[in-house]
Amino acid sequence: MDYIDDILRFDEQAALRLRTLYSRFGYSQYRMSRFEEYSLYAENKDFLPSGNIITFTGAGGRLMALRPDVTLSIVKNTKDDRGLIKLYYNENVYRPDSFDFKEQMQVGLECIGDIDARLTGEVLMLARRSLEELGQRFSLDISHMGFINGLLENEDLLPEQRTSLLRCVSERNAHGLGLMCDKFGVGNKTRDAIASLAEIYGPFGEAIAKLKQIDLNQETNRALDELFEIHDELVRLDSDRDINIDFSIVNDLSYYSGVIFHGYLSGVPAKVLSGGRYDKLLRKFGKDSGAIGFAVYLDLVGQLSPTGGEKAPAEEMINIALPKGRLGEKAYAIFESSGYGCPAILDDSRRLVFESKENKVRYFWVKPSDVAIYVERGVADIGIAGKDILLEYSPDVYELLDLGIGKCRMCVAAQKGYSPLSRDLTPRVATKFPNIARGHFSKQGRQIDVIKLNGSIELAPLLGLADVIVDIVETGTTLLENDMEPVETIVDISARLISNKVSYKFKYGEISKLYGKVSAGLNKTMES
Ligand code: PRP
Repeated sequence: MDYIDDILRFDEQAALRLRTLYSRFGYSQYRMSRFEEYSLYAENKDFLPSGNIITFTGAGGRLMALRPDVTLSIVKNTKDDRGLIKLYYNENVYRPDSFDFKEQMQVGLECIGDIDARLTGEVLMLARRSLEELGQRFSLDISHMGFINGLLENEDLLPEQRTSLLRCVSERNAHGLGLMCDKFGVGNKTRDAIASLAEIYGPFGEAIAKLKQIDLNQETNRALDELFEIHDELVRLDSDRDINIDFSIVNDLSYYSGVIFHGYLSGVPAKVLSGGRYDKLLRKFGKDSGAIGFAVYLDLVGQLSPTGGEKAPAEEMINIALPKGRLGEKAYAIFESSGYGCPAILDDSRRLVFESKENKVRYFWVKPSDVAIYVERGVADIGIAGKDILLEYSPDVYELLDLGIGKCRMCVAAQKGYSPLSRDLTPRVATKFPNIARGHFSKQGRQIDVIKLNGSIELAPLLGLADVIVDIVETGTTLLENDMEPVETIVDISARLISNKVSYKFKYGEISKLYGKVSAGLNKTMES
């Protein structure tokens, strides 16, 4: 078989190894057509990572889709009266990325039937083995939807309020979570419990022992008992190492019920494996069975070289993206006073990268609106980004801390004396933040004509290009000097400490130490 290494690409070799692994454990191959009826995906949009799907009209006028996912087809096409069904697949799916659609190679497995701790253990062991097969340092992180479900069950929340809370949990955004709990009237007990869950991150066995000390309610205790059983099973299978508990992993509450998990490889900036227990999806198809499965995203793995994509042991240096300008200088001062100084950065030069070997830190100056991209892509482990940028681009990062600097407001503003357009007219809105603007007006049930500009937004109403603007107001001077005024505040803005999700796992010691020092420094400043 050695010649195969010369013929197949790294991701193809990996696919072959994973398929061999799954079939050794009794999983048989499921094959599917590239196309499915669009209605399958339209009816289950929230199960998919995105609602954007490539469609076309097939023979007979039926609306068809290029498959964005394999699990939905498996669930639709399997009869649940056949006892235990164990399937694996190796298929391409078609999903949107930032600018276009992308073909992604996925290998995955699904186990449908009476799912107990033994089968859950087997699936997690196979997820772990899949990561191990890819030859990098890895981490399989698991959570249990029973915790968040159990905590929120007694709170009277609207679906969108739950979604907002879950988003804060998934961002490790303790600050935002606190504000939202206040706004939605969530009780202190629930709020403290969610906050203490969010702080637990670490090896499976140790983390569940800590959880035992927090007695919450019946549902969370049931979830914890299940985690103990699964842990015992993994110990029995000699597969409990490199598995961490991470409650920031959350999935859609209407599809997922039990254990959910993500897999990470050092050197790949996003999760490469995702899975969980999705009994509720089967209920939607009128089936009684349980189901658990996962997919490995081999297109991401393909970025690694066969000899290992991990950069030379990452030297445990923390890479920090700072926004160029006054905000970045203020942020640097916070890092410096927390023990992460790098004096060369203050030199009058046009260099963009600065390093202090002594303090194990490397800084990059980047355009403020690009910080989130550097962090999301893992080039920077952490960064400082304004909440405006995070709301506009929704990067997949952790939002660890509100630094309380760079404070301003996102506002709708207009020329003095402006009277709002009647509801049958579509206002023209000039902005650098089209997503924030659209989101704000759609909450009021209004469509808008967005005029995307890159600066000097205040000019647009002045010259008749727009009716109103959506923009940052800091001192209010720019509005004042251009005969304008704020009409509404959309949201308060300040600078946030953000972290790449994979760096957070593999540099956990360094990042949590930095987080601790920076937040202690901020608390001291607030007290004095
Ligand atoms: C921002 C913002 C406003 C101004 C608000 O512009 O877009 O124009 O600052 O600040 P103020 O309330 O203190 O007057 P920025 O300076 O980033 O320049 P830009 O217009 O080129 O984007």
